[in-house]
Amino acid sequence: MLNRRRLLALGATVGGALVLPFTKLTPVGAKEGEPLHKGYHIGRRTAGTGVRPAVAAFTEQMPVPPVLQPAQSATGVDVYKIAIQNSTAEILPGLKTPVLSYGGSFVGPTIRAKTGRPVKIMYVNQLGEPANVHLHGGHVPAVSDGHPMDVIQPGQARVYDYPNNQQGATLWYHDHSHHTEAEHVYRGLHGFYIIEDAAEKMLALPTGQYDVPIMLRDSEFDKDGGLIFFDDPANRTTILANGKIQPYFPVAARKYRFRLLNASNEHVFKLNLGGREMVQIASDGGLLPAPAPLTELVLASAERAEIVVDFARYPIGTQLVLSNGADPVLRFDVVRPALDLSRLPSTLRPLPAFTTAAVERDVAMSFDLTGTDPIGLVNGRPYDPNRIDFQIKQGTTEIWNVSNADTIGIDHTFHMHMTHFQVLERNGGKPLPQDAGLKDTVHVPPDGKVRIQATFADYTGKYVYHCHYLEHSSIGMMGQMEIVT
Ligand code: C2O
Ligand code: CU
Ligand code: CU
Repeated sequence: MLNRRRLLALGATVGGALVLPFTKLTPVGAKEGEPLHKGYHIGRRTAGTGVRPAVAAFTEQMPVPPVLQPAQSATGVDVYKIAIQNSTAEILPGLKTPVLSYGGSFVGPTIRAKTGRPVKIMYVNQLGEPANVHLHGGHVPAVSDGHPMDVIQPGQARVYDYPNNQQGATLWYHDHSHHTEAEHVYRGLHGFYIIEDAAEKMLALPTGQYDVPIMLRDSEFDKDGGLIFFDDPANRTTILANGKIQPYFPVAARKYRFRLLNASNEHVFKLNLGGREMVQIASDGGLLPAPAPLTELVLASAERAEIVVDFARYPIGTQLVLSNGADPVLRFDVVRPALDLSRLPSTLRPLPAFTTAAVERDVAMSFDLTGTDPIGLVNGRPYDPNRIDFQIKQGTTEIWNVSNADTIGIDHTFHMHMTHFQVLERNGGKPLPQDAGLKDTVHVPPDGKVRIQATFADYTGKYVYHCHYLEHSSIGMMGQMEIVT
């Protein structure tokens, strides 16, 4: 269909090829000097050039991204230093894929933080172009939020302060440099940031080697193992689990906690264990009120879900495949017996009480398809860093009615910075299982309407909210709020 075809061009028109020679050009459809498109560059269209990597299923073990040790932790603050750098990764056996990385690895190092204990991270930008870092799901002061216009210039360093004054949750960090976030994240600027708190520890959920973050994301490769960005995102049909194609992961016959992240720019995963039970215990903002047994988990771009799988139910030698629909993604091999002292309590953590909403707002995500290239819109306007769309009084609760306002069959996910929200309704009815708990990102499918409430308490300043289909936010599907006293 026509509109579909035009949107396919999204992947082709944003970002610059970083590992291949490229020319920065004035973007089609934008006037020179127009603030929205400043720094916007385009690449060659290479629709459909990807090859399906010839990788035999379940031959490589899934790595677990290493936990970064602080460079310093003497003064009650954990201090880290991470380079933003060009690197290569062995994603396809025997081939080196050029990637962008935090700290040299395609899935960045995992930061393990504790509630109430601040973290400072110095990022050194060794790329040839601006980049930055956003802590997705972090309640952080505006100056450390990685606002799209607040970037680290090449050769410069920047310290981000993370107070960690929030409950335990699986967060992630990724690039947010305006217009280039989609390509930067796609090429590897992503990693886990996990906050643990004392109350959660008391629950005795699986920990240590039995608490495993798994970054799931899509990708498209050329024949040399290069990641193809300039193509229809629908061609990103190769799913990676912690940077590997269909790996296996040996497990003991006991409970595991898996922290699943969908780090794809544009993808809704429908995850299943072939009909076997997965028990969801947490979503974006941390633990659910109670465990929720599921056989299918819907996880849209930027969402997280934590599940407990009890492999003690299966005999040694059992192989359980985690699939996206019918596509195998990862195989768990039950290889050894284990003593399991962990628990899965029947209640976890109640949701916080929200004060009565003072304001109600509409947030409609759509495209302007009238020009040569599509433009992303929120409430009819593309992002303008010089405009405050919503002014919000600190400490108040608001209800936002978030909608997918096109009729062209394109998904969105809606993400809000600085705070977490609760989904009150979906399409006028009850929320879906994947809306449970405290959320920072929610799937807004075609015709979708999601009613959410959030309290804007922690900080003042300017923060963005946007579609987390990063090609969409790159071309303007983003708004700006200012929290004021
Ligand atoms: Cu995951 Cu505004 O970002
Ligand atoms: Cu975010
Ligand atoms: Cu979108």
